Amino acid sequence: MTRRDFINSTSASYASLLAWGMLPAAPASALNLPANGQNKDGKGRKVIILGAGLAGMTAAYELGKLGYDCTVLEARARSGGRVWTVRGGTQESEMNGGPAQTCTFANGLYFNGGAARIPHHHQITLQYCRELGVPLEIFNGANESAYLYNDGGTGDLANRRMRISDYHNDMRGYTSELLAKALDQSSLDQQLTKEDVEKLIDFLKNEGDLNTAHLYKGTNRRGYKSKSDPGAGNAPGTITDPYGLTDLLRSGFMQPVFYNVGDYAYEQQTTLLQPVGGMDAIPKALEKKLAGKIIFSAPVTELRKTENGVRVVYQKAGKSVEVTGEFCVCALPLPMLKNLESDLSGTVKRAADFIPYMKTGKIGLQFKRRFWEEDDGIYGGISRTNMDINQIWYPSFGLQGPKGVLIGYYNFYSRAEAVGAMTIPEREKMAMTQGAKIHPQYPAEFENSFSLAWHRIPFSGGGWAVYDDAIRKKYYPSLLEPDDNIYFAGEHTTYLTAWMAGAFTSARRTVESIHARVGEYTKK
Ligand code: ALA
Repeated sequence: MTRRDFINSTSASYASLLAWGMLPAAPASALNLPANGQNKDGKGRKVIILGAGLAGMTAAYELGKLGYDCTVLEARARSGGRVWTVRGGTQESEMNGGPAQTCTFANGLYFNGGAARIPHHHQITLQYCRELGVPLEIFNGANESAYLYNDGGTGDLANRRMRISDYHNDMRGYTSELLAKALDQSSLDQQLTKEDVEKLIDFLKNEGDLNTAHLYKGTNRRGYKSKSDPGAGNAPGTITDPYGLTDLLRSGFMQPVFYNVGDYAYEQQTTLLQPVGGMDAIPKALEKKLAGKIIFSAPVTELRKTENGVRVVYQKAGKSVEVTGEFCVCALPLPMLKNLESDLSGTVKRAADFIPYMKTGKIGLQFKRRFWEEDDGIYGGISRTNMDINQIWYPSFGLQGPKGVLIGYYNFYSRAEAVGAMTIPEREKMAMTQGAKIHPQYPAEFENSFSLAWHRIPFSGGGWAVYDDAIRKKYYPSLLEPDDNIYFAGEHTTYLTAWMAGAFTSARRTVESIHARVGEYTKK
């Protein structure tokens, strides 16, 4: 029987064939729009694109393939927008007179200040990396050897670090034991047959690593006592003792802050990826494809509608410069649109005013020794805490190297607001003090830092668009339609907010709708 015969002979669904590995998941492919009408393409049609972030540059790249004549106006001296890698020499001044920082990381060390991971199911991002020749490596997101730290709790397990694996394995053990007991006492008889109960108990024995009496007595899954690892000769290893169930239940680790990352979030499940050498490899590769089309250090100050298209005013070397085009792709983040002089419709202006953006920040801390690897055996991954630092990210690159930069905080909402409002030295001090509770090595090994608060970064003004159902219903639709000849792109015009995949897919959507409109003209 051939595979095709087998498939034809069963009523297997597409999903189950996928799950059995009999069909490859549909990969994203290159955008291959058909040429339009007699004129074949967008030749001679001028498009002004606002913003050389991923959405703006992808729109220019794809429109360019179809022959459109694109000019991209970028306020910064660099491309990439919120896809930004911080390394030695990086400079930034936050808004409202925020102090200037120059990064002093050692050669080869960096952290991704914005976008920092690619889920394995974001096919469109992976496709562009393929198409643009951006090499990828594994980003280790979920590392069971990283730590949990509940600050300020009262239980015996509060105010001390705990390996994620200890917490997971103990809780899996105890909950499995409890359920196995309930099953042994036949209390679930009504829902399950005897055979089902046996299978479920088998599952629980495996899941919780229970002993033959269905009890959880600890397991080598949570590792061995210090200096008692299995070894040569007479060294079978001594496994660690589990924490008590009551202590665990009082640990505070059931708070959402400990659960909204890693395997508990669809986008963060393994495997995650990152470009080799920094996330800015993606915008740099796009920029290469757009040679001569991007005007840097050119902040837009006016966006006007004209009879036949658009007129855009930008600042260049202290002077106002004007460009006109048939279409505009506005890929500015909404906080930037808020303050732009424009002829945009009232509904778009309201969307810019009322769609909130995430307040979020990070700090990169350079240490002279990779103590998290050398002392703690942590290679990549994320520690979690309810302190203001929220998360510590360990680098997935440069493993076993002499020095390293870890992300000392990654926080959101009010935490990020409070930390962002601090001076640069205060942020560093806060990251050091709180981080040292998890890693006492901090003070002895610290060298320097670079911090950022996206809601204070010029030309971004926030992390990403944050929708709830009401905001989505009220304001989102106006960003999906062109406002006369002005089209919108960016993660905020998608259901993939906060991801590069959102920027990419929004750009394609915009290119498709411009090209379809031009196709209609040429048919006439
Ligand atoms: N996509 C962003 C992240 O990975 C929010 O943290």
